[in-house]
Amino acid sequence: MEDPWKREFEFAVEVEIRKAGESEIRVMTKSCTVDLVTKTDERVEKIIIGSLKEEFGEGTHCFIGEESVAKGEACVLTDKPTWIIDPVDGTTNFVHGFPFVAVSIGFAVNKELEFGVVYSCLEDKMYKAQKGKGAFCNDEPIQVSDVQDIKKSIIISEHGVDRSPEKVTKIFSTMQKILCIPVHGLRGSGTAATNMCLVACGAVEAFFEIGIHCWDIAAGAVIVKEAGGLLLDVNGGPFDLMSRRMVSANSDTIAQRIIKEIEIFPVVRDDAL
Ligand code: IPD
Repeated sequence: MEDPWKREFEFAVEVEIRKAGESEIRVMTKSCTVDLVTKTDERVEKIIIGSLKEEFGEGTHCFIGEESVAKGEACVLTDKPTWIIDPVDGTTNFVHGFPFVAVSIGFAVNKELEFGVVYSCLEDKMYKAQKGKGAFCNDEPIQVSDVQDIKKSIIISEHGVDRSPEKVTKIFSTMQKILCIPVHGLRGSGTAATNMCLVACGAVEAFFEIGIHCWDIAAGAVIVKEAGGLLLDVNGGPFDLMSRRMVSANSDTIAQRIIKEIEIFPVVRDDAL
């Protein structure tokens, strides 16, 4: 069958994301003092959206970009072909020189994710996946791990940027319970997109977080699924890209075991921001 989104997929892979590391870092803050943004975030998003608009036109395609939303643009997923972009995922890492930074581009049509591309800049790893066609890292096929025993797993979670004590308490209480199952380890790379690619390539068994945004996880969601993994809501229900809650795992067994321990706290949906 003819692949309807081939041109879009190939363009997403080629779009100028490698420039992310080249420019001077000027740090600013967004929602609070720990929610950092740099000129690079803004510049890379401008480059990516600019090239996409030039190639595909503004009328038929929509764009949800982290920095555009921060500047007040709508964050609503419609049925139209929509590019969901995080120009620098792991901005805090980028600012501090902690070596995990990614560019993430997801593409959805009729609210269904069609493909995702994550470029882990400093590792020079290009992860990509198209619905129904498998997942790849630097063109090599990748697969989730086959570990089913939670006690033999590594789990990733992150604390995000909301530092209200009640939320931080719930996050760390969840992490403590998971750590004490016990699992082999708890990790966090500081970029949700990279965390999902680590699930996809079998380095860890799961990544979950409450408070992430659609641009952090849109591309990774396709990559995890195509690598044989699954996505769920933190309450075990179906995954909802705009809900800011997600468990991505190699298997239902691992996902359900984690879900049992997650202390859920409220977050405002992306499409209600
Ligand atoms: C952040 C990273 C981090 C996650 C946060 C995100 P940003 O994205 O993905 O791993 O814990 O929730 O906001 O701000 O660096 O693009």
